[in-house]
Amino acid sequence: MAEAVIKTLCPRIPARTALLFVALAVLIFAPAILRAQTDCLACHSDQDMKNAAGHNISVDGQTFAASIHGVLKCGDCHTDIKEYPHPDKIAPVQCSTCHADQAAKLVGSVHADGKDHPCTSCHGDAHAIFPKNDPKSAVYPLNVPRTCGQCHGNDGMAKKHGLASVYPMYVDSIHGFALSKEGLLVAANCQSCHGSHHILSHTDPQSATYKANIPKTCGSCHAKIDMDYEGGAHGKAIAAGKFKAPVCTDCHTAHAILQPTEAAFRMQSTPICGSCHKDKLSTYRDTFHSQLGSLGGYVETARCWDCHGAHEILPASDPRSPIAPQNLVATCGRCHKGANSSFVKYQPHANARDRKLNPALYFVRLFMNLLLAGTLTFFVIHTILWLVRARYDQIRKKSAEGEKNA
Ligand code: HEC
Ligand code: HEC
Ligand code: HEC
Ligand code: HEC
Ligand code: HEC
Ligand code: HEC
Ligand code: HEC
Ligand code: HEC
Ligand code: HEC
Ligand code: HEC
Ligand code: HEC
Repeated sequence: MAEAVIKTLCPRIPARTALLFVALAVLIFAPAILRAQTDCLACHSDQDMKNAAGHNISVDGQTFAASIHGVLKCGDCHTDIKEYPHPDKIAPVQCSTCHADQAAKLVGSVHADGKDHPCTSCHGDAHAIFPKNDPKSAVYPLNVPRTCGQCHGNDGMAKKHGLASVYPMYVDSIHGFALSKEGLLVAANCQSCHGSHHILSHTDPQSATYKANIPKTCGSCHAKIDMDYEGGAHGKAIAAGKFKAPVCTDCHTAHAILQPTEAAFRMQSTPICGSCHKDKLSTYRDTFHSQLGSLGGYVETARCWDCHGAHEILPASDPRSPIAPQNLVATCGRCHKGANSSFVKYQPHANARDRKLNPALYFVRLFMNLLLAGTLTFFVIHTILWLVRARYDQIRKKSAEGEKNA
């Protein structure tokens, strides 16, 4: 290869001689190029080298040379070293002199005032930094969760800052599983949802994890679902600033996302829909579908979203809604083969207290209640009269006996 290049550049010099010149040039200039490194490494390559405080200050020259910064001289970062022996106290390295963009983004983020070096807390050993697409990098997609997890999987740290310890939850989630077990680079890692340098608290309206921004954040990968969601009642409510409506994480959580076909997810209709629609949950609980579901163990039955859909949820008044009267035969028919218009008269939310919604049930319940009250009242009066009568008989008997004895 080198021979071919030389041959094209200087066709008159024999290739072997040319190679010899190149080798000679390298031998002459290499020490000058490497001197800065070797000067420092002459001392710092000693693996057991310690500073006055007992902290190991050795540098692995080979790893450093292979790292992204291997092209730099030690002094490019350790700028205050001008002569030997150098002073004991050396100023901290400013990564910002070369990476102003990342440094500016970190300022004002939640990690701005990290106790350790603000950059190496995520990028790892300062002398072993690799490009982000290199599997050896601490910020390679498959390594990001572990990197963030050093702190966010630490219960002590979480408690101190009033944060949830999210790393263990994430590892067991569908995204964590896809990333760590399947090595799926496109699965969401911490950085996909939070960003890298400009991470903000979810209470900040600028944050990717602020409630109103979550559908777009998840939608950057789950685009079709985001479109469905935004066309539904919940998405429209959020867009209109009604924050009582759910976003993706209200139903799926942020870090403990389950596969929705799993029994553990399907059994959660209470937290998923019922925590907000309490009235509909309690009426659903009175029906066949729910009672089957609570028999213990897992029973396949109709959950809220089997009838309502999960993302494009629409009110019954919308003709596209699966619960619009004209669509019920199809909706119920998914599970009830041969469902017809009389079958779908069965009311999944029969509410006997609601006269407007369920007039027949309302009057039946009213009648049954009146009947019950009437019967009870009759028996209470009956019992009281009975007792009075019994006492009266007793007194009369006693006085009759008294008269007899006297
Ligand atoms: C003659 C040996 C020698 C050479 C050459 C040398 N150092 Fe040092 N260096 C030391 C010693 C000894 C210490 C420990 C000082 C102390 O704390 O007692 C030290 C400490 C340091 C520290 C501070 C470590 C700490 O305590 O946090 C840095 C950074 C450092 N050297 C970088 C360099 C760089 C960069 C070069 C090359 C430009 C270099 N050194 C060349 C001997 C050397
Ligand atoms: C990309 C910038 C960069 C380069 C290049 C670099 N260093 Fe460092 N070095 C750092 C940072 C960051 C630290 C952590 C302490 C600090 O913040 O200053 C550090 C710390 C050190 C320490 C203290 C021991 C330790 O591990 O904490 C020594 C010694 C040292 N460097 C020597 C070297 C030597 C020798 C070279 C060249 C072979 C070199 N450095 C090249 C950034 C760099
Ligand atoms: C909270 C963790 C964290 C901190 C702190 C951090 N980084 Fe990063 N950095 C990352 C992640 C994650 C990536 C990968 C981003 C990606 O894949 O797009 C990254 C990528 C980079 C890149 C590659 C280019 C880019 O922006 O994607 C550079 C350069 C960089 N960081 C420098 C720095 C510097 C300099 C600092 C300190 C001022 C710093 N980082 C602090 C997490 C961090
Ligand atoms: C003297 C300038 C200089 C300093 C100081 C410096 N870097 Fe770099 N850094 C570079 C250069 C040059 C590259 C290679 C740029 C490229 O390939 O685009 C680089 C690349 C990187 C990358 C890989 C970018 C990628 O594409 O994934 C990271 C991460 C990084 N630096 C982090 C740091 C951190 C952290 C510090 C402080 C400890 C630091 N740098 C200090 C010059 C510097
Ligand atoms: C699929 C998107 C997504 C992924 C992946 C993700 N997060 Fe989050 N994270 C969020 C959202 C959204 C919030 C906002 C609060 C909420 O909904 O729970 C959040 C909140 C947080 C919080 C604040 C928790 C609290 O108690 O207030 C921390 C810390 C955090 N995430 C760290 C991480 C770390 C570390 C990882 C990787 C191990 C990660 N996140 C992965 C979306 C994600
Ligand atoms: C060196 C430890 C450390 C590392 C590594 C780290 N963090 Fe943090 N992080 C913290 C601390 C400490 C806080 C709390 C800061 C505060 O109280 O304002 C925090 C706060 C957060 C928050 C804000 C929580 C909220 O809503 O208030 C998020 C989100 C977050 N980190 C995500 C990440 C992600 C993503 C990574 C990896 C790319 C990461 N962190 C790496 C220490 C760390
Ligand atoms: C970086 C892209 C990305 C982002 C951002 C993302 N996801 Fe995912 N998600 C994926 C991939 C890829 C899978 C498929 C994993 C698999 O099947 O193994 C997945 C799987 C899922 C699943 C399981 C789907 C199934 O059929 O089993 C759910 C639920 C989910 N994500 C919800 C969310 C939510 C909620 C958010 C936002 C808080 C989010 N995702 C953000 C890429 C992403
Ligand atoms: C009101 C609760 C709710 C909201 C809000 C919600 N989901 Fe879902 N999601 C569900 C339910 C329930 C399922 C299960 C559907 C099924 O099994 O038929 C599901 C299923 C999924 C799946 C698996 C694939 C599929 O279509 O079955 C993914 C991925 C997903 N959701 C992502 C998201 C994203 C991204 C958002 C935000 C844009 C979001 N979800 C908003 C409840 C919700
Ligand atoms: C975080 C609370 C919350 C959760 C969880 C939730 N919803 Fe809603 N839902 C709302 C709010 C608020 C509205 C009203 C939106 C509006 O004002 O238009 C709504 C509207 C609806 C509507 C339209 C009816 C109407 O009156 O406009 C249906 C149907 C519905 N939700 C079903 C569901 C189902 C099914 C689930 C579970 C898959 C669910 N919801 C989960 C809060 C929630
Ligand atoms: C077997 C199918 C089915 C199941 C399961 C079901 N629903 Fe319904 N839901 C309907 C039908 C049909 C209607 C419209 C008639 C009515 O209001 O009773 C409705 C109405 C509603 C409405 C009012 C919609 C409007 O436009 O006014 C909400 C909100 C609702 N359901 C929430 C839920 C929740 C929450 C669950 C789970 C706890 C659930 N549903 C379970 C079929 C179902
Ligand atoms: C996801 C599947 C599913 C959907 C959708 C569904 N059901 Fe059911 N339903 C069941 C299961 C399972 C049972 C109990 C097993 C059985 O008896 O067939 C049941 C039982 C019933 C029963 C008890 C009597 C019977 O026939 O067994 C009625 C009535 C009923 N459903 C009505 C409805 C109506 C009305 C709808 C539409 C609004 C509907 N269901 C939608 C799964 C579903």
